Amino acid sequence: MTRGVPVARTVAALRRAVARYRAAGETIALVPTMGALHAGHLSLVRRARRRADRVVVSIFVNPTQFAPSEDFDSYPRTFAADLAALRDVSADLVWAPASVEEMYPPGFATRVVPAGPAAVGLEDAFRPHFFAGVATVVTKLLLQCLPDVAVFGEKDFQQLRVVERIVADLNIPVRIIGAPTVREADGLAMSSRNVYLSAEQRAVAATLYATLSACAEKIREGQRIAAVMRQGRRAIERAGFRLDYLEARHAGTLEPIASLAEGPVRLLVAARLGATRLIDNIAV
Ligand code: PAJ
Repeated sequence: MTRGVPVARTVAALRRAVARYRAAGETIALVPTMGALHAGHLSLVRRARRRADRVVVSIFVNPTQFAPSEDFDSYPRTFAADLAALRDVSADLVWAPASVEEMYPPGFATRVVPAGPAAVGLEDAFRPHFFAGVATVVTKLLLQCLPDVAVFGEKDFQQLRVVERIVADLNIPVRIIGAPTVREADGLAMSSRNVYLSAEQRAVAATLYATLSACAEKIREGQRIAAVMRQGRRAIERAGFRLDYLEARHAGTLEPIASLAEGPVRLLVAARLGATRLIDNIAV
């Protein structure tokens, strides 16, 4: 029988485990997650494995990045299955705070409020408190664990850019690694929230990536970005989504970009099917 992955439930226990790794001269990678792990998360763990001797995976559904109207209470929590999956990919330690208070003790009063890529009119325009919540918890996770590297998915492309910005701005001594998006066979980006989709919505959901891919191809062929984005928005709405945004942005800064000559282009989309909000993105 293989042994389960050890779980640290307090910051003190995490620090003790990390100190043991350091005393043995080992390097450490951190993979922050909110659990409900799928193959996308596990690909980050495998990538982390290649980059460090020890892999710590955090599982914490962070209340401060959910608006009151959002799905904090109903967010899927599958801790036993997560532990089994993490054992199979040889994670070394799970950091799962015993309670919200372990992360945010009484009197907690400090927030990290990012601008730059966190204020470009994408996710920030639709989830105004989201990136302060993410930035605060990611900063805490990095300082609690002090890993050599931390791995984040390109699935949440704006989040990846925001984390890179915070680490640079606050001189947090960690290397941030971006990892490609893992998709279902029909192209839908894997997400813990995909379980919310009905069978009918699930079929429509796959058209989001198909449209993104078609738009990227047209821009590569030389069609004008603004026209391609207009067609893409119409296609997404015709498929049955309520569109939050479909935008072409500079892949580095996430600022608007009008032509391929101005730099690397990333297409980013957020759209809703019923109560479920999907996001995705693609390189041009
Ligand atoms: P969560 O949504 O659980 O995602 C954890 C990490 O997995 C993120 O870096 C995300 O980009 C990555 N990920 C999700 N789906 C993926 C996919 N299909 N392919 C590749 N990577 C994927 O993102 C968060 O949690 C939180 O905001 C967090 C950073 C943990 C802070 O609370």
